[in-house]
Amino acid sequence: MSERIKVAFFDTKPYDKDFFDRTNEKYGYEIAYFPNRLDSSSMGLAAGYENICAFVNDDLNAEVITELKKNGTRLIALRSAGYNNVDLKASYGKIHIVRVPAYSPHAVAEHAVALMLSLNRKTHKAYFRTRDNNFSLNGLLGFDMNEKTVGVIGTGKIGKVTATILRGFGMNVLAFDVYPDKDFAKENNVQYTDLATLYQKSDIITLHCPLTPENVYMINAESISQMKDGVMIINTGRGKLLNTQDLIRGLKSKKIGSAGLDVYEEEGDYFFEDFSAEAISDDVLARLLSFPNVLVTSHQAFFTKEALDQIALTTLENIRKFHQEGNLPYEICYQCKNGDCPKQETGRCF
Ligand code: NAI
Repeated sequence: MSERIKVAFFDTKPYDKDFFDRTNEKYGYEIAYFPNRLDSSSMGLAAGYENICAFVNDDLNAEVITELKKNGTRLIALRSAGYNNVDLKASYGKIHIVRVPAYSPHAVAEHAVALMLSLNRKTHKAYFRTRDNNFSLNGLLGFDMNEKTVGVIGTGKIGKVTATILRGFGMNVLAFDVYPDKDFAKENNVQYTDLATLYQKSDIITLHCPLTPENVYMINAESISQMKDGVMIINTGRGKLLNTQDLIRGLKSKKIGSAGLDVYEEEGDYFFEDFSAEAISDDVLARLLSFPNVLVTSHQAFFTKEALDQIALTTLENIRKFHQEGNLPYEICYQCKNGDCPKQETGRCF
């Protein structure tokens, strides 16, 4: 009888186990679920596991990669689309890194739009007011999104769905992408433009590009200064796309009208965990949470039933392909630095 495939699963939450156990009925892998995040302090738990399953806040730095390799790991199957937490250079030639490039772009796009609607119509405040028998409308004034302008930065899978939903609201959609999709723009009445124009003209700006070394803090004091007064900023991409201190300054000066953040640059310390019985020692996060016009969700944009089903299926299938076919369609290619191996997926090697 052939040996069962063993997987060490890090940063496990109850819902991960539910979805993976159900999907694994078909695969029959031996999965060891560890609640720990994978980092330099927990990497010893992975000893002897050929396959590792990791998530967005696991820290796959060079030290961790070297240790994993030494202890027999051959594959890291990320159960996420983003991979900015992996040292791809350190893993190149040592450990294969695969990901789930698309699970439900609708999940993330719909969450981004939910943040926009809540911030605009202030449903997050109305909810508490009416429960307190306060039926006043003072301070709840919103604006019609119809005919306003939204700027979508990054028009990949998620950005495109977001643009399409907002076109349905009757918004003018401006877009910026390093690889514009002109056919999509034509078919959906979306207008590509340069970043400066997008900043100047947008009432709402929503970030849907990956975090790369080139775009760290692309939203900063300088870019904020080019934006419309009262602009709404939505970030469901990655925390470091946005300089949080500059965002706070923009909110204090009222240059920024509101912000919806599903990601935060230091989210690793808090997100996905319950700190409701403790004081928060991160003063920047605490300041963000003090603004009535800031809505923070803890990296939950992906969190739908459909997305979790797809994440589990693609991750376990990635592992099967590696062992049974030697085929890795969703391998992240360090050479092309674009996350999608050029010959196999997008052909956008640079
Ligand atoms: P994708 O790869 O389909 O699209 C990304 C797009 O961004 C591509 O068209 C690419 O050309 C473009 N791009 C790259 N660098 C850029 C830059 N500097 N400026 C403008 N455009 C740039 O990726 P997808 O699936 O749409 O996801 C986008 C990002 O959303 C992921 O990288 C991830 O960081 C984030 N994400 C967040 C989730 C959440 O739960 N909050 C869940 C899933 C993804």
